[in-house]
Amino acid sequence: MVSQRLTARRLTNLLGNWRGHGHSYLELAASIELLVRDGVLPPGAVLPAERPLSEELGLSRTTVSACYQRLRETGVALTRQGSGTVIRAPRVVDAGTANDESGAVVDLTRAIPEPWSGLPMLAARAMNEHPETFELAGYDTLGRAELRERIAARYTQRGLATSAEQIMVTVGAQHAIYLIARTLLSRGDRSLIESPSYPHAREALAATGALVADLPVMLDGHDPELTIDTVRRTSPTLSYLIPDHHNPTGLSMPQELRAQIITELSARGGYIIVDETTAELTLRETRTVLPFAASAALPHEQDRVITVGSLSKTVWGGLRVGWIRAAPDLIAQLEVSRRIGDLGTSSWEQVLATLAFDHYDEILLDRTKSLTAQHRALIEQLGAQLPSWRVSQAIGGVCVWVDLGEQRSSALSRECSKLGLQITPGPRFGSPGVFERFLRIPFSASEADLGDAVAMLEAAWAAGPQSSAPPQLASAVI
Ligand SMILES: Cc1ncc(COP(=O)(O)O)c(C=O)c1O
Repeated sequence: MVSQRLTARRLTNLLGNWRGHGHSYLELAASIELLVRDGVLPPGAVLPAERPLSEELGLSRTTVSACYQRLRETGVALTRQGSGTVIRAPRVVDAGTANDESGAVVDLTRAIPEPWSGLPMLAARAMNEHPETFELAGYDTLGRAELRERIAARYTQRGLATSAEQIMVTVGAQHAIYLIARTLLSRGDRSLIESPSYPHAREALAATGALVADLPVMLDGHDPELTIDTVRRTSPTLSYLIPDHHNPTGLSMPQELRAQIITELSARGGYIIVDETTAELTLRETRTVLPFAASAALPHEQDRVITVGSLSKTVWGGLRVGWIRAAPDLIAQLEVSRRIGDLGTSSWEQVLATLAFDHYDEILLDRTKSLTAQHRALIEQLGAQLPSWRVSQAIGGVCVWVDLGEQRSSALSRECSKLGLQITPGPRFGSPGVFERFLRIPFSASEADLGDAVAMLEAAWAAGPQSSAPPQLASAVI
């Protein structure tokens, strides 16, 4: 277990607007449990002492004490002699266990489409056509030539000329993001990430010791002037962007902003990680999404764009194959740095991935059909049952971002979990304390599950209090 002592201020920031209208100690315990479940408080994290926490939260010490007692009773924390109250492990939710009257448990904490139905066929083809794979060492740090060529060809087909030497195969996109971050960032460097954004990318930047600044993304997308101003003021060594079908809004960056943002960042010597994990998941119709790097005005600017892709959302999350597209000398640097952390991607999974590219257009068409139907169902149900909520107008990806109009996201998520819906509250997608007015709703679940989810959201919303908490301010942009 990792030991990480939390200050009362830090825990208070992480908790955001946790207060509802029930017993404070129970709500505080449930909010801490939510942070554990979301991975914000890892096993081994040491909770603050009761007195400073009660002062910081403006609660009696008895309330904090009762909350810690509750955490021990429910197995979330334990008391270790000399260390205080320590987080044990996230409580495992058994998907087959009823925790509401109807017995439903819907998990919207993950935005992952169903595994592609052709996977057994791919596996059978791999067994029949590539038995030689079992004679290989079984893994490598750059990727098999056939797969690198297929990935490069896909970029070329999408409008960005690419050769295999510009590609490294990784163990999914998250691996790629952290590998790039730890190779290019040092402690104290400046990095930049859209806010809101994919939380594990923020964690990857922060884990290098870099300072992480926020690039605001509104419910209707990027504000071009604010974006360029933020880039100029922060002058980051490394930025992380999701320009197409952004997680969590499902929006895409305006074309006219792309060349400008690349010019501004590269002129300051910065690199940009462009996460295109969901760039090819379009709604309504399949369309070719021009890779972000193709917008670079000059070749040396294009070399500053490091594109990350993955098969986890298009084909299957269990196929741990992602990739990095970058200039060949940077690929070489990343390969050296990679060996410290892992020894390569499995050859067997690379064979499956290579075969998946034979069916890629068909897979994407399938995805567009189901995601479009699920998105439509979600929007209709939200419109009918929660009409005051404002929803981002997603054009792709797997989720929408919702403005609740009130600072209640954490309390709502907690309430939902009692009813049988697991959903990640808004603050998880930004720096601690922001986005308490927002909620991410993935539409990657089935229409039936989405229907149940909206019914539970509606019930939880109707049950909840009208929060009087003051708005939380976004952290300062450095
Ligand atoms: C935007 C984004 N990037 C990267 C990832 C991680 O992808 P992988 O499963 O390939 O590591 C996810 C998964 O949720 C994601 O939403």
